Amino acid sequence: MSYLKNTFLQQPLNNAVEIYNSNVVPHLIKKNKTIAISVAVAISIFYIIRDQVFRPPRNLRHIPYFGYFSILGSILKNESLFDRGKRVSMEFVKSRPDGLYLEPGKVGWEIQVYNAEDIKHILLKYELFPKTDFAEGCTETLVNKFIARPNLVFTNGEEWKSQKKVINPAFRRSMPVKLFGNITQQLFKRIEGSEKTLDVSDLMTRCTLEAIGKAGFGFDFEAVSKEDSKWTKIYSEVIDGFRDFTYFMFPRLDQELLWLFPKRKVLHQKLDTLMDMLDEVIQNKRELLKQGQVRNDDLEENERDLLTLMLESEELDEGSLSDKQLKANLCVFFYAGHDTTASALSFALNYLAKYPKIQERARKEANLILGDRPEDIIPTVEETKQMIYINQIIKETLRLKAPVPRITPRLVTKDTFLSGTFIPKGSRVTINIYDLHLSDKAWENPTEFDPDRFAQEESNSTWVPFGGGARQCIGMNFSLNEQRVMIAMICKLK
Ligand code: HEM
Repeated sequence: MSYLKNTFLQQPLNNAVEIYNSNVVPHLIKKNKTIAISVAVAISIFYIIRDQVFRPPRNLRHIPYFGYFSILGSILKNESLFDRGKRVSMEFVKSRPDGLYLEPGKVGWEIQVYNAEDIKHILLKYELFPKTDFAEGCTETLVNKFIARPNLVFTNGEEWKSQKKVINPAFRRSMPVKLFGNITQQLFKRIEGSEKTLDVSDLMTRCTLEAIGKAGFGFDFEAVSKEDSKWTKIYSEVIDGFRDFTYFMFPRLDQELLWLFPKRKVLHQKLDTLMDMLDEVIQNKRELLKQGQVRNDDLEENERDLLTLMLESEELDEGSLSDKQLKANLCVFFYAGHDTTASALSFALNYLAKYPKIQERARKEANLILGDRPEDIIPTVEETKQMIYINQIIKETLRLKAPVPRITPRLVTKDTFLSGTFIPKGSRVTINIYDLHLSDKAWENPTEFDPDRFAQEESNSTWVPFGGGARQCIGMNFSLNEQRVMIAMICKLK
């Protein structure tokens, strides 16, 4: 655990006094008082900063920690969260399978929990561990303007319950597998029409953007059919801006100091345009609903977009959301739903390319279910349920490459113990999905890609890519079906 220790930084605070006495006082007695006093002040400031910023608060110092320097190192190396996890935490997790550790987050120190029992406890007791205010002190950063409004992901208590009452039925009613299939057919056209090598991750991002635009609120981004459609371009630029880890860790640069970064300012303007477009979509839908044009009995209920289904719940007296809440949720469906599924699909295709035998088994299953005629058959909801092996591939990919490696930090509202360690009220805890999914204690040969590990078991508390308990991902089935349809159709393609 020597990498956890930095002797210089961990010397006790009273070293400042010693250094002052031995190095500053003698000079003070001689002559240059100004320099001596400045040195004293500088040393004090250094120790105060070190104590307040670079070390965890006193009541958490019994927990091992990775400091700001590991995060800064990561930013400088431009590491992905996966690479950072591998470099920083995995060795520690191996040596302490029941432990926890601290890491600095955006608004303070966060306790990383990776033990299955603790994770279950936090997820089930969700009222004792509410979500922390994600946008605390930084509501106007690029990402927070888009997602940290009153929506299902970031609210707690009564507000969350009343939103869930409207949104949950909409997700249960909507399973647009035909739409997913149509998008996959468009993807094939795009691949056939291209002579250059295509970037899989870009293609998957386009497909999932198209899916959430159409299934979310009936909007055609033309992301798959056109190289550079207006809205795809704006959306992609803004999303790239969200991913900039520097602004994420230092949100002041994205708000008060924004004037120093003109390029970033342009991204804020683009985001405003995107948000205005969503306002318009909501107004139009409401207008159509008033005129009785939204309820389309020619459409299967499961092919209606989520916005329509949420507005219909108002009509059916099943609860309602204000325009502000509707918009906040559409934004968060994008953020929570499109990049995550794109990442899952890209990694799954990468694994299929890497392991031809696994690919062959997946193809056999797709042909068995959809028939082996050389046509692009779109699976039905029933057929997606028969995709046992393809489902195992999806699950194994989500284990090794969890698109959400850590869940939103939770506030500890009562003194408690996790992994036998005292956790004081007021601390922040987060479930580290990445660490749990790669822990030796939870999985045999955890780094190996082996879909067969999911052949038998039905539920497993050590597999939590979608979180769990009452706050489990509401788009889980939406995303899983999107992946099943696309992977089955792509495998069948050969
Ligand atoms: C592979 C795809 C996805 C993954 C891995 C994923 C992962 C997660 C996780 C881990 C959570 C729990 C967060 C927490 O407890 O702090 C969550 C919540 C949520 N996800 Fe997803 N998600 C995916 C797809 C989607 C999709 C497609 C949508 C919507 C279209 C969506 C919407 C949401 C919402 C609204 C919540 C908040 C639920 C609540 O708090 O009640 N997600 N997701």
